[in-house]
Parts: sequence; structure tokens; C-alpha cells
Amino acid sequence: MILVTGGAGFIGANFVLDWLATSDESIVNLDRLTYAGNRQSLASLSGDDRHIFVHGDIGDGELGARLLAQYAPRAIINFAAESHVDRSIHGPADFIQTNIVGTFQLLESVRAYWKQLPEEGRQSFRFLHVSTDEVYGSLAPDAPAFTEDHPYQPNSPYSASKAASDHLLRAYHHTYGLPVLTTNCSNNYGPFQFPEKLIPLMIVNALAGKRLPVYGDGQQIRDWLYVGDHCAAIRRVLAAGVPGATYNVGGGNEKANLDIVHTICGLLDELRPRPDGRAYREQITYVTDRPGHDRRYAIDARRIERELGWRPAESFASGIDRTVRWYLANQDWVHNVQSGAYREWVEKNYADRQKMGS
Ligand code: NAD
Ligand code: TYD
Repeated sequence: MILVTGGAGFIGANFVLDWLATSDESIVNLDRLTYAGNRQSLASLSGDDRHIFVHGDIGDGELGARLLAQYAPRAIINFAAESHVDRSIHGPADFIQTNIVGTFQLLESVRAYWKQLPEEGRQSFRFLHVSTDEVYGSLAPDAPAFTEDHPYQPNSPYSASKAASDHLLRAYHHTYGLPVLTTNCSNNYGPFQFPEKLIPLMIVNALAGKRLPVYGDGQQIRDWLYVGDHCAAIRRVLAAGVPGATYNVGGGNEKANLDIVHTICGLLDELRPRPDGRAYREQITYVTDRPGHDRRYAIDARRIERELGWRPAESFASGIDRTVRWYLANQDWVHNVQSGAYREWVEKNYADRQKMGS
């Protein structure tokens, strides 16, 4: 079996669901169930004994050791993290704790477990760490996309904490020989994404008749990848990646934030017109920019395509259409994740963002 961490979050849940839909290998899923973890995303697995959910922290070394001894996984995929840049600006401490200290504790438990495996088990074992393109920093408009050799230049507490965890992975490979793999992926979107991130936030706010808060001039660029394609890339790297290597994963879909918001508004105008017949784009409001906002990310994914034969299956047009339809069809999920804690966050992040125009 395999052990995943953070499998109740956005990408982790999609991964667990895809894995169990395409393989009979069981999964132990270790998740602390922070505000971002939702067991409801895994509700379709209830009664499926191939999925073993464990409520706990990756920073709990004793728990990690116990799970490894009990289930003897052949691989670990580490999704668990604090993942939202704006939250890292308001409060970096949780990011340092989970993304750096938590990953370190997990690595320590795994190192002890891996060391005592028989030779063959040591060779075939893998620790796959799911990271981000944000560790590379921000690109100038005409600069080439990030390759795996691009220097690390993280700019936010989130990306700095992910960069630190990537360095730990690298060090555990070089120093101890631990067979690690790291993927650095661009912005994901798709079902089960918590509505604090750009795409689900815009869909949810649009439907609720709220403003659509675009930071700064809305011309920041991200390289968007449908989450199912990311999960396929991770499966491919786990199966055939070279220990110690890193793989950039991206969709080849560079889009400005404002264009994303316009696309969502256009789809909603078609699929769920406003009761008053007006266009959703009228809800767009420019608000104060994010401090230290990275201007552009873009991924050069040629290594994973050349060496492992992965490439995205979904275009942006098809992926965003599926995503908007998923949110329309899953309003219960949206409603249930919007707890009091979510509403407090919205208040904290947006209340003091001055309106700049619309
Ligand atoms: P998410 O915030 O939706 O989910 C994170 C999950 O980790 C949640 O289920 C949460 O409960 C769990 N978790 C948090 N702290 C934990 C801890 N200490 N112990 C155990 N579980 C803990 O995040 P996501 O968007 O699914 O991202 C998953 C991973 O992919 C992260 O490592 C992130 O850095 C990386 N990543 C995300 C994106 C993206 O666009 N979302 C892009 C590239 C890389
Ligand atoms: P986000 O989804 O938070 O991902 P990341 O910061 O990791 O790229 O944000 C994507 C882009 O959208 C980013 O440039 C910030 C911008 N953004 C807004 O303009 N308004 C918002 O309300 C949010 C949440 C993000």
C-alpha cells in the first residue's frame, strides 16, 4: 500500500479518488483536517476498506513511526501543507510549522523506517514530495519559463516554507540516500478546491451576488493545470521518476487573472444567468494588491514529457468548463465548507482591502 498525507485537501482528495478508481492498491491517508481538509470530499469512499483515514499531524513523529510500522507502505506522497499565500502573509507561523518542521519530522520517521527495510525494499521505496513552482520566484514578462535548474527565489512566507521543505528532501537524498522525488507544479484548479483560492472564490462569490475581488491590476499571470492532470503526473513520477530528480509540472496555460475571471463570468452567464439578466462581470471589483505579489509564473514541463511521457490531457477551455459545472452541481459541498472559520477568513482578508474601482 501507499501512504498519502493531506489527502483530505484539494489535490490530495482528487489524488486518492483517482488512485482508488484506477488501482486496487490501498491508501493510508494521514490528514490533520485543518480548515482546508474536508472528509466530505472523500464521502464516495465510505465503506471502501482500501481507504484508511487517520486523523493526525505529519509533525507527530511517533504517529508517523507507528503508521509506517503498522502498514509498511512501499511509498509516501506528501501533499500535507499550509497552501494559501494570503494566509501566509497574515500568519506565517503555521506555514513554518507544517511545511518545514512537519516535513522534517515526516522525513525523520521515514528515514528510520526505510533504513531497516531489506535491501530490495530500500531500493524500491519512494518518498514523493508535492511542491510548487512558486519556489522559483517571479518571472519577467518575456523571460523563459521555469526549468528544474532555475534558482530558488521564493518571495512569500508560503513559497519560502515550501522551498525549505524541498531543500530538506534534497539533503535527505544526498546525505542518507533516501529515494526521494519532488514535483514542482503550477496553479491547479478543479473539483474540491477550497473557495479561498482564485477560481472557486470567484465562482462562489459570483453565484452569491458578491463582489469579485481582483488584486491590483489583475494582470498577474499563472500557468493553470487541471487537477486531474496533476494527479496523473504524480502517478507517473512515482512509477518511473529517478530518485533524487525533480520534475516541473505545468499546463502550458499562461493566463492573466482578469482573463480567468472574465472566462468564469462568461460561463456562468450561460449556465446560470443572473436573475436580473445582467452580466456577472459587473461584480468585478479591483482591490488593493497582495503585498509582494509575484507577477508571473510559467512552467517548462519538457523534462517530465521527454523522460516520463506525461503531458496534460485537459485544455484550459475544457478544464474550466468542467470546474464551473462541478461547483454548480455541488452547492452542498460549497455550503458545508463555508464554516464560521471561512467567514472569519473572508472578513480578515478582504475587509481592509480598499476598493480601487470596478
Ligand atoms: P490544501 O490546502 O487544499 O490541502 C492541504 C491538506 O493538508 C488539508 O487536507 C489539510 O488538512 C492537510 N494538512 C495541513 N497541515 C497538516 C499537518 N500538519 N498534518 C497533516 N495534514 C495537514 O492544499 P492543496 O491545494 O491540495 O495542495 C496540496 C499540496 O500541493 C501542497 O503541498 C501544496 O503546496 C502543493 N501545491 C498546490 C498547488 C495548488 O495550486 N493548489 C500547486 C502546486 C503545488
Ligand atoms: P491563488 O489562487 O491564491 O493562488 P497563488 O497565489 O498561489 O498563485 O491566487 C491566484 C492569483 O489570483 C494570484 O495572482 C492572486 C490572485 N487573486 C485575486 O486577484 N483575488 C483573490 O481574491 C484571490 C484569492 C487571488
